[in-house]
Amino acid sequence: MDRPHIICHMMTALDGKIIGDYMETRVADIMNSEYDRIHDEFLADAWMCGRVTMDDNFTFYEKPVLSEEAVSIPHTDYVANPKAGSYVIAVDPSGKLGWKENNIHGYAKRPPAHIIEALTENVSDAYLAYLRKLGISYVFAGREHIDCTALVYKLKELFNINRLLLEGGGYLNGSFMNEGLIDDLSLVLAPVADGDSNTVTLFEKADYLKKSVPMEFKLKSVERLGENGLWIQYKTNKNSEVGTA
Ligand SMILES: NC(=O)c1ccc[n+]([C@@H]2O[C@H](COP(=O)([O-])OP(=O)(O)OC[C@H]3O[C@@H](n4cnc5c(N)ncnc54)[C@H](OP(=O)(O)O)[C@@H]3O)[C@@H](O)[C@H]2O)c1
Repeated sequence: MDRPHIICHMMTALDGKIIGDYMETRVADIMNSEYDRIHDEFLADAWMCGRVTMDDNFTFYEKPVLSEEAVSIPHTDYVANPKAGSYVIAVDPSGKLGWKENNIHGYAKRPPAHIIEALTENVSDAYLAYLRKLGISYVFAGREHIDCTALVYKLKELFNINRLLLEGGGYLNGSFMNEGLIDDLSLVLAPVADGDSNTVTLFEKADYLKKSVPMEFKLKSVERLGENGLWIQYKTNKNSEVGTA
Protein backbone atom coordinates (compact mmCIF):
# COMPACT_ATOMS: atom_id res chain seq x y z
CA MET A 1 0.00 0.00 0.00
CA ASP A 2 1.53 3.30 -1.04
CA ARG A 3 -0.44 5.32 1.41
CA PRO A 4 -0.36 5.32 5.22
CA HIS A 5 -2.48 2.94 7.26
CA ILE A 6 -5.26 5.23 8.50
CA ILE A 7 -6.84 4.90 11.93
CA CYS A 8 -9.72 7.21 12.76
CA HIS A 9 -9.28 7.79 16.50
CA MET A 10 -12.11 9.71 18.21
CA MET A 11 -13.99 10.19 21.43
CA THR A 12 -17.77 10.44 21.30
CA ALA A 13 -20.73 10.72 23.66
CA LEU A 14 -23.30 7.90 23.61
CA ASP A 15 -25.22 9.78 20.88
CA GLY A 16 -22.20 9.98 18.57
CA LYS A 17 -21.48 13.63 19.29
CA ILE A 18 -17.85 14.73 19.22
CA ILE A 19 -18.38 18.13 20.84
CA GLY A 20 -20.92 19.78 23.13
CA ASP A 21 -21.80 20.51 26.74
CA TYR A 22 -21.09 16.90 27.69
CA MET A 23 -17.39 17.70 27.30
CA GLU A 24 -17.61 19.70 30.56
CA THR A 25 -18.55 16.63 32.63
CA ARG A 26 -16.22 14.68 34.88
CA VAL A 27 -16.64 11.45 32.93
CA ALA A 28 -15.78 13.19 29.66
CA ASP A 29 -12.67 14.53 31.31
CA ILE A 30 -11.64 11.03 32.39
CA MET A 31 -12.37 9.63 28.91
CA ASN A 32 -10.34 12.45 27.34
CA SER A 33 -7.32 11.29 29.34
CA GLU A 34 -7.92 7.74 28.08
CA TYR A 35 -8.22 9.11 24.54
CA ASP A 36 -4.81 10.79 24.86
CA ARG A 37 -3.25 7.67 26.35
CA ILE A 38 -4.51 5.52 23.48
CA HIS A 39 -3.32 8.13 20.98
CA ASP A 40 0.21 7.75 22.37
CA GLU A 41 0.02 3.95 22.33
CA PHE A 42 -0.69 3.89 18.60
CA LEU A 43 2.85 5.20 17.98
CA ALA A 44 1.70 6.85 14.77
CA ASP A 45 3.99 8.93 12.55
CA ALA A 46 1.38 11.66 12.23
CA TRP A 47 -2.03 12.91 13.33
CA MET A 48 -4.43 15.00 11.27
CA CYS A 49 -7.27 17.44 12.01
CA GLY A 50 -9.59 19.71 10.03
CA ARG A 51 -9.37 23.50 9.97
CA VAL A 52 -12.14 24.03 12.56
CA THR A 53 -10.57 21.60 15.04
CA MET A 54 -7.22 23.35 14.61
CA ASP A 55 -8.79 26.78 15.19
CA ASP A 56 -10.76 25.55 18.21
CA ASN A 57 -7.79 23.91 19.89
CA PHE A 58 -4.50 25.32 18.57
CA THR A 59 -4.66 28.57 16.55
CA PHE A 60 -7.73 30.04 18.29
CA TYR A 61 -9.02 31.86 15.19
CA GLU A 62 -5.93 34.10 14.98
CA LYS A 63 -5.54 35.54 11.48
CA PRO A 64 -2.30 34.78 9.62
CA VAL A 65 -0.02 37.82 9.34
CA LEU A 66 0.39 38.20 5.58
CA SER A 67 2.86 40.51 3.85
CA GLU A 68 1.38 43.30 1.68
CA GLU A 69 4.20 42.85 -0.84
CA ALA A 70 3.16 41.07 -4.02
CA VAL A 71 4.86 37.70 -4.33
CA SER A 72 4.56 34.93 -6.86
CA ILE A 73 5.09 31.42 -5.54
CA PRO A 74 4.57 28.30 -7.63
CA HIS A 75 1.80 25.98 -6.46
CA THR A 76 4.10 23.07 -5.76
CA ASP A 77 4.60 21.06 -2.58
CA TYR A 78 7.05 22.41 0.00
CA VAL A 79 8.92 20.08 2.35
CA ALA A 80 10.49 22.11 5.15
CA ASN A 81 11.41 19.09 7.27
CA PRO A 82 11.48 15.58 5.74
CA LYS A 83 12.79 13.94 8.95
CA ALA A 84 10.72 15.44 11.74
CA GLY A 85 9.90 12.15 13.47
CA SER A 86 6.38 13.33 14.27
CA TYR A 87 4.00 15.28 12.04
CA VAL A 88 0.64 16.98 12.37
CA ILE A 89 -1.43 17.65 9.25
CA ALA A 90 -3.81 20.62 9.19
CA VAL A 91 -6.49 20.33 6.49
CA ASP A 92 -6.85 24.02 5.68
CA PRO A 93 -8.08 24.24 2.05
CA SER A 94 -7.85 28.00 1.55
CA GLY A 95 -5.14 28.88 4.08
CA LYS A 96 -6.92 30.41 7.08
CA LEU A 97 -4.95 29.14 10.05
CA GLY A 98 -2.80 31.67 11.90
CA TRP A 99 0.18 29.64 13.04
CA LYS A 100 2.97 31.27 15.06
CA GLU A 101 5.58 28.53 14.66
CA ASN A 102 6.19 25.41 12.61
CA ASN A 103 5.28 22.80 15.19
CA ILE A 104 2.73 21.93 17.85
CA HIS A 105 4.35 21.16 21.18
CA GLY A 106 3.29 20.82 24.79
CA TYR A 107 -0.08 19.25 23.91
CA ALA A 108 -1.00 16.35 26.22
CA LYS A 109 2.07 14.10 26.26
CA ARG A 110 2.57 14.22 22.50
CA PRO A 111 6.06 14.84 21.14
CA PRO A 112 6.56 18.09 19.17
CA ALA A 113 4.97 17.60 15.76
CA HIS A 114 6.08 19.42 12.60
CA ILE A 115 3.12 21.08 10.87
CA ILE A 116 2.13 20.12 7.31
CA GLU A 117 -0.64 22.26 5.80
CA ALA A 118 -2.93 20.46 3.32
CA LEU A 119 -4.03 23.08 0.78
CA THR A 120 -6.05 23.50 -2.40
CA GLU A 121 -5.54 25.82 -5.38
CA ASN A 122 -7.72 28.34 -3.49
CA VAL A 123 -4.77 29.42 -1.35
CA SER A 124 -3.10 32.81 -1.89
CA ASP A 125 0.59 33.28 -2.71
CA ALA A 126 0.82 35.53 0.35
CA TYR A 127 -0.25 32.60 2.56
CA LEU A 128 2.37 30.35 0.95
CA ALA A 129 5.02 33.00 1.66
CA TYR A 130 3.81 33.14 5.27
CA LEU A 131 4.13 29.35 5.66
CA ARG A 132 7.61 29.36 4.11
CA LYS A 133 8.72 32.13 6.46
CA LEU A 134 7.58 30.07 9.46
CA GLY A 135 9.17 26.89 8.08
CA ILE A 136 5.84 25.08 7.77
CA SER A 137 5.59 22.34 5.14
CA TYR A 138 2.63 22.25 2.73
CA VAL A 139 1.15 19.99 0.09
CA PHE A 140 -1.45 20.65 -2.57
CA ALA A 141 -4.36 18.24 -2.93
CA GLY A 142 -7.38 19.33 -4.94
CA ARG A 143 -8.64 22.46 -6.70
CA GLU A 144 -11.43 23.72 -4.39
CA HIS A 145 -11.88 20.84 -1.98
CA ILE A 146 -9.31 18.55 -0.49
CA ASP A 147 -8.76 15.37 -2.50
CA CYS A 148 -8.09 13.14 0.53
CA THR A 149 -6.76 10.26 -1.58
CA ALA A 150 -4.17 12.44 -3.35
CA LEU A 151 -3.24 13.92 0.02
CA VAL A 152 -2.46 10.66 1.81
CA TYR A 153 -0.37 9.32 -1.08
CA LYS A 154 1.71 12.51 -0.91
CA LEU A 155 2.14 12.16 2.85
CA LYS A 156 3.66 8.74 2.34
CA GLU A 157 5.83 9.79 -0.60
CA LEU A 158 7.15 13.10 0.75
CA PHE A 159 7.30 12.47 4.51
CA ASN A 160 7.36 8.68 4.77
CA ILE A 161 4.23 8.68 6.93
CA ASN A 162 3.21 5.05 7.35
CA ARG A 163 0.69 5.24 10.17
CA LEU A 164 -1.72 8.16 10.35
CA LEU A 165 -4.25 9.01 13.06
CA LEU A 166 -7.28 10.78 11.60
CA GLU A 167 -8.59 12.80 14.56
CA GLY A 168 -11.58 14.83 13.42
CA GLY A 169 -13.60 16.76 13.33
CA GLY A 170 -16.71 15.20 11.87
CA TYR A 171 -16.46 16.88 8.46
CA LEU A 172 -12.89 15.79 7.88
CA ASN A 173 -13.70 12.24 9.05
CA GLY A 174 -16.72 12.25 6.72
CA SER A 175 -14.56 13.24 3.74
CA PHE A 176 -12.17 10.39 4.45
CA MET A 177 -15.05 7.93 4.81
CA ASN A 178 -16.53 9.16 1.55
CA GLU A 179 -13.29 8.28 -0.25
CA GLY A 180 -13.04 4.86 1.47
CA LEU A 181 -9.79 5.80 3.20
CA ILE A 182 -10.44 4.65 6.77
CA ASP A 183 -8.78 1.34 7.63
CA ASP A 184 -9.54 1.19 11.37
CA LEU A 185 -11.85 3.00 13.75
CA SER A 186 -10.79 3.51 17.37
CA LEU A 187 -13.73 4.81 19.35
CA VAL A 188 -13.57 5.99 22.95
CA LEU A 189 -17.19 5.99 24.06
CA ALA A 190 -17.87 8.32 26.99
CA PRO A 191 -20.81 7.30 29.19
CA VAL A 192 -22.61 10.62 28.80
CA ALA A 193 -24.99 12.48 26.44
CA ASP A 194 -26.40 16.01 26.38
CA GLY A 195 -29.26 15.86 23.87
CA ASP A 196 -28.04 18.86 21.88
CA SER A 197 -29.37 18.62 18.30
CA ASN A 198 -26.95 21.11 16.79
CA THR A 199 -23.55 19.61 17.46
CA VAL A 200 -21.26 17.67 15.14
CA THR A 201 -21.22 13.87 15.08
CA LEU A 202 -18.43 11.41 14.34
CA PHE A 203 -19.00 11.52 10.56
CA GLU A 204 -20.60 14.43 8.71
CA LYS A 205 -21.11 14.96 4.96
CA ALA A 206 -19.98 18.28 3.51
CA ASP A 207 -22.53 19.87 1.12
CA TYR A 208 -20.14 19.64 -1.82
CA LEU A 209 -19.98 15.84 -1.60
CA LYS A 210 -22.47 14.41 -4.08
CA LYS A 211 -23.70 11.47 -2.03
CA SER A 212 -23.05 9.64 1.18
CA VAL A 213 -21.11 6.38 0.97
CA PRO A 214 -22.07 3.97 3.77
CA MET A 215 -19.20 2.10 5.33
CA GLU A 216 -19.55 -1.16 7.26
CA PHE A 217 -17.26 -1.99 10.17
CA LYS A 218 -16.06 -5.29 11.62
CA LEU A 219 -15.57 -5.50 15.37
CA LYS A 220 -11.99 -6.16 16.47
CA SER A 221 -12.17 -5.62 20.23
CA VAL A 222 -14.05 -4.01 23.09
CA GLU A 223 -12.39 -2.91 26.30
CA ARG A 224 -13.88 -1.34 29.39
CA LEU A 225 -12.45 2.08 30.28
CA GLY A 226 -12.79 3.11 33.90
CA GLU A 227 -16.14 2.14 35.37
CA ASN A 228 -18.51 2.96 32.53
CA GLY A 229 -16.60 3.88 29.38
CA LEU A 230 -15.65 1.72 26.39
CA TRP A 231 -12.83 1.53 23.87
CA ILE A 232 -14.24 -0.06 20.73
CA GLN A 233 -11.95 -0.99 17.86
CA TYR A 234 -13.29 -1.76 14.41
CA LYS A 235 -11.75 -2.33 11.04
CA THR A 236 -13.57 -1.33 7.91
CA ASN A 237 -15.22 -4.03 5.87
CA LYS A 238 -13.80 -3.39 2.42
CA ASN A 239 -16.08 -6.06 0.95
CA SER A 240 -19.28 -4.39 2.09
CA GLU A 241 -21.76 -3.61 -0.66
CA VAL A 242 -24.58 -1.13 -0.36
CA GLY A 243 -28.03 -2.70 -0.93
CA THR A 244 -27.06 -6.33 -0.43
CA ALA A 245 -28.15 -6.75 3.20
N1 LIG B 1 -14.28 14.27 20.38
C1 LIG B 1 -13.19 14.20 19.63
O1 LIG B 1 -12.48 13.17 19.65
C2 LIG B 1 -12.85 15.33 18.70
C3 LIG B 1 -11.75 15.19 17.84
C4 LIG B 1 -11.48 16.22 16.95
C5 LIG B 1 -12.28 17.36 16.93
N2 LIG B 1 -13.30 17.49 17.78
C6 LIG B 1 -14.15 18.70 17.74
O2 LIG B 1 -14.83 18.77 16.49
C7 LIG B 1 -15.16 20.12 16.22
C8 LIG B 1 -14.91 20.48 14.76
O3 LIG B 1 -15.47 19.54 13.89
P1 LIG B 1 -16.00 19.97 12.45
O4 LIG B 1 -16.51 18.73 11.82
O5 LIG B 1 -16.92 21.13 12.60
O6 LIG B 1 -14.71 20.55 11.71
P2 LIG B 1 -13.35 19.89 11.12
O7 LIG B 1 -13.62 18.60 10.46
O8 LIG B 1 -12.32 19.97 12.17
O9 LIG B 1 -12.98 20.99 10.03
C9 LIG B 1 -13.82 21.18 8.92
C10 LIG B 1 -13.13 22.10 7.96
O10 LIG B 1 -11.96 21.48 7.46
C11 LIG B 1 -11.86 21.75 6.09
N3 LIG B 1 -12.11 20.47 5.37
C12 LIG B 1 -12.28 19.25 5.90
N4 LIG B 1 -12.41 18.32 4.92
C13 LIG B 1 -12.31 18.96 3.77
C14 LIG B 1 -12.34 18.57 2.43
N5 LIG B 1 -12.46 17.29 2.04
N6 LIG B 1 -12.23 19.51 1.49
C15 LIG B 1 -12.12 20.79 1.85
N7 LIG B 1 -12.06 21.24 3.12
C16 LIG B 1 -12.15 20.32 4.05
C17 LIG B 1 -12.88 22.85 5.79
O11 LIG B 1 -12.21 24.07 6.12
P3 LIG B 1 -12.69 25.55 5.66
O12 LIG B 1 -13.90 25.85 6.49
O13 LIG B 1 -11.55 26.42 5.99
O14 LIG B 1 -13.00 25.45 4.19
C18 LIG B 1 -13.95 22.48 6.76
O15 LIG B 1 -14.82 23.54 7.07
C19 LIG B 1 -14.26 20.97 17.11
O16 LIG B 1 -15.06 21.64 18.05
C20 LIG B 1 -13.34 19.97 17.77
O17 LIG B 1 -12.94 20.34 19.06
C21 LIG B 1 -13.62 16.49 18.67
